[in-house]
Amino acid sequence: MERSVVNFIISIVLLASVVGSKATTRVYLTENATAYWTNYYTKRIHWDLEKAGVACASIDADKPFEWRNKYNWTAFCGLSGPSYPSSCGLCLKVTNPTNEASVVVRIVDQCGSESMELDEPAFSEIDDGSGKTKGHLTVNYRFVDCDPPPPPPPAGPGPELKDICGKCLKVTKRRTKDEEIVRIVDSCGSDALELDLTTAFTPIDSDGKGYAAGHLVVDYQVVDCDDDDDVDSQLRLYSQ
Ligand SMILES: *[C@@H]1O[C@H](CO)[C@@H](O)[C@H](O)[C@H]1NC(C)=O
Ligand SMILES: *[C@@H]1O[C@H](CO)[C@@H](O)[C@H](O)[C@H]1NC(C)=O
Repeated sequence: MERSVVNFIISIVLLASVVGSKATTRVYLTENATAYWTNYYTKRIHWDLEKAGVACASIDADKPFEWRNKYNWTAFCGLSGPSYPSSCGLCLKVTNPTNEASVVVRIVDQCGSESMELDEPAFSEIDDGSGKTKGHLTVNYRFVDCDPPPPPPPAGPGPELKDICGKCLKVTKRRTKDEEIVRIVDSCGSDALELDLTTAFTPIDSDGKGYAAGHLVVDYQVVDCDDDDDVDSQLRLYSQ
């Protein structure tokens, strides 16, 4: 059979309805967390993670400048969501409910307490005036996808849906080589795959980082479905 191997980026649209309908799905929204502030002096050190001496330098120090300076930095040790080192490079949207101000920050560090330490410019951005006085703010936070996948290279006309419906793909997570067989049941709005969260996305997202980031980087390959071979019992969806 025809085989094609394509490098692809899966973009999972974590629709609120999908998440909301699965009570057991982890939803990283935390209320009333404590945010302290710290000084990374990012401009002075040219957003250099090694110069900052932060814990995530071992993982993200060689990221391009445009990545490192895209968001203000934070240390994160909250109880909900990925912890170090899985948290490195992920982003939080932090909101001060008192003045409704919010800021998106990137996790570059660990911290001493079960909370977060925002770099001073980000802390000041959402401070209602009480933060600097009391030494901390009470905030709500959630993980957000701050690095949307780059637009895919222009592709030729793809196969019509009727030609690919019911076929199977082997989807392999690039970093860990975890894989799942999924069945194509739908087309989708984005130039990507949309895996069913429970049966396909979560099983290959062993460290939870993909869920928090909103997508996984995978390779996929068209494979025979092996319908005689019990694949139906583990039907996976390629759908929205
Ligand atoms: C957070 O604090 C607000 C105001 O004190 C309160 O109404 C709300 O129930 C708290 N939320 C949680 C999850 O504790
Ligand atoms: C960091 O925060 C300050 C204050 O809100 C803001 O002016 C600046 O643009 C932010 N920098 C980045 C890279 O987001």
